[in-house]
Amino acid sequence: MPYTAELKKLIKIVEKTRPARVERKKKGQEFPTIPLDEREKILKKYHPDFKSGSRRKIRVGPNKGYAISHEVVDILEARSRVDPNKIDLSRVDYQTDILIIGGGGAGAAAALLAQQHGAKVLLATKLRLGDANTMMAEGGIQAATKRGKDSPYYHYLDVMGGGHFVNDPKLVKTLVLEAPKVMGWLEDLGAMFSKLPDGTLKTMHGGGTSRKRMHYAGDITGAEIMRTLRDEVKNRPTDIKVLEFSTAIELILTDQGQCAGALFYNLETEEYFVVKAKATVLATGGSGRLHIQDFMTTNHYGATGDGLVLGYRAGVKLKFLHTVQYHPTGAVFPEQAEGLLITEKFRGAGANLVNVDAEQFVYEREPRDVEAAAIIRECSPDVGKGVPTPTGKFGVWLDSPMIDMLRGPGTVRSEFPGKDILFRRYDIDISQEPMLVHPTLHYQNGGLEINERCETSLPGLFAAGEVSGGVHGENRLMGNSLLDVTTFGRIAGLNATLYAKRKSLKGKLTLDHVRKYHRALARAGVKTDRIAPMILPDYSNPEVRKKQLTTQYQGTLR
Ligand code: FUM
Repeated sequence: MPYTAELKKLIKIVEKTRPARVERKKKGQEFPTIPLDEREKILKKYHPDFKSGSRRKIRVGPNKGYAISHEVVDILEARSRVDPNKIDLSRVDYQTDILIIGGGGAGAAAALLAQQHGAKVLLATKLRLGDANTMMAEGGIQAATKRGKDSPYYHYLDVMGGGHFVNDPKLVKTLVLEAPKVMGWLEDLGAMFSKLPDGTLKTMHGGGTSRKRMHYAGDITGAEIMRTLRDEVKNRPTDIKVLEFSTAIELILTDQGQCAGALFYNLETEEYFVVKAKATVLATGGSGRLHIQDFMTTNHYGATGDGLVLGYRAGVKLKFLHTVQYHPTGAVFPEQAEGLLITEKFRGAGANLVNVDAEQFVYEREPRDVEAAAIIRECSPDVGKGVPTPTGKFGVWLDSPMIDMLRGPGTVRSEFPGKDILFRRYDIDISQEPMLVHPTLHYQNGGLEINERCETSLPGLFAAGEVSGGVHGENRLMGNSLLDVTTFGRIAGLNATLYAKRKSLKGKLTLDHVRKYHRALARAGVKTDRIAPMILPDYSNPEVRKKQLTTQYQGTLR
């Protein structure tokens, strides 16, 4: 659907203020950044994490008493999908060295490293290999590849600053030191990043970065990385077996307390099956489809926080789940695209955010939580400067036509092919007309606790990527999730393999931890008819469907 007549009228106002804004930018006169004490105030008043009543304390498990979003507590306080007494663990359907649960960037990277170090790998994934948040990531991957101007030292400071200095320093150190190597690895595998005519990698700024270190492949960087990793996994079929439409239901332990694989459910045949493994890597990704606080989401259809449930029931602690990342710019028009990511790269390339009166109200590259809070403030009744959408929501304008004026005609088309094609489907040319945006649920800042070897507290269980927590502290910066999944995916694959070579499984397979968890729920007085993992969101329920109209969205680039 093209812009309505009302919205076209409002766009005329944006066109009026645009030349002066472009001129200011050309002269280097940036909109002032928000001072630190002011940032804290905006966050507390407008960021959804601080909304009163939005969290509650979990009543069971290793983080008992920790207050996190209701939607996450709901799945953690749910019962298992199975009655452990009815599962026969004496019949093992698959046996392998390394089991990888999850077919996104972290899972695929882990599989490749494990195979490379001599392991037999089984990778099981809920939907298809590559149906993951990695595929949906757009704007880039950070790495300090440009020595002289940048170094892992500056990258470290940016990551810590973005995360409010509470990140796990060892994880951050590993992330930034590994980053240049990971870029080289991806290129060697065939990932095609955008380059300058002399062959050097193009780089840009992202929110909260002090150096231009965002590498990208147009605005489909995640799709390019996932394509590369997926092809490579498929090219090694002798040692990496892939099971699609196979979703993990519970981890399986030995009665000696080691992780020994998982119980799965085949979504096509509707059968349960058992995988026994010497070591297991959880790489199940995030949880945007829980629609925390009813927010729309950028996440893929299967992002329902399953790994959190599996790990937590088996005794692994959670970290940093009290903060949630709302990406500042999700589409709110046309309605078929609601929630979809509009990459931060648009702002990195110079596009302003402006309100209904076409006034710029925030510097466009504040850290994500601050930027999102500033947009929510602008749309709030206190300020009342949001742009009303035909579906009754509010947004602000992301003034993409500035980019061609700043960087030359054709830049939007060549640098943002994904969004250019998407909006053309609705007769909107984003090099001529701005986009309407509002914060959208994007990333699970926290997750299962790991160390820099990706070990969890459960022997034999490793975790990598969005399911884990610590590296991003309380707020992740753009481009560090593609880096996280590839860096820690590789590390998990390698260390799981070393573990599998060193240790053997001892004792009988058991689901006793699930029985224990059920007893703890009963003791804590948790009365629930919920079961978890959720597996897929139930959009057949009109209450759930209201949260994301993109469920009706047909066709994507991917
Ligand atoms: O804005 C973006 O392209 C998102 C990137 C990220 O979350 O890392």
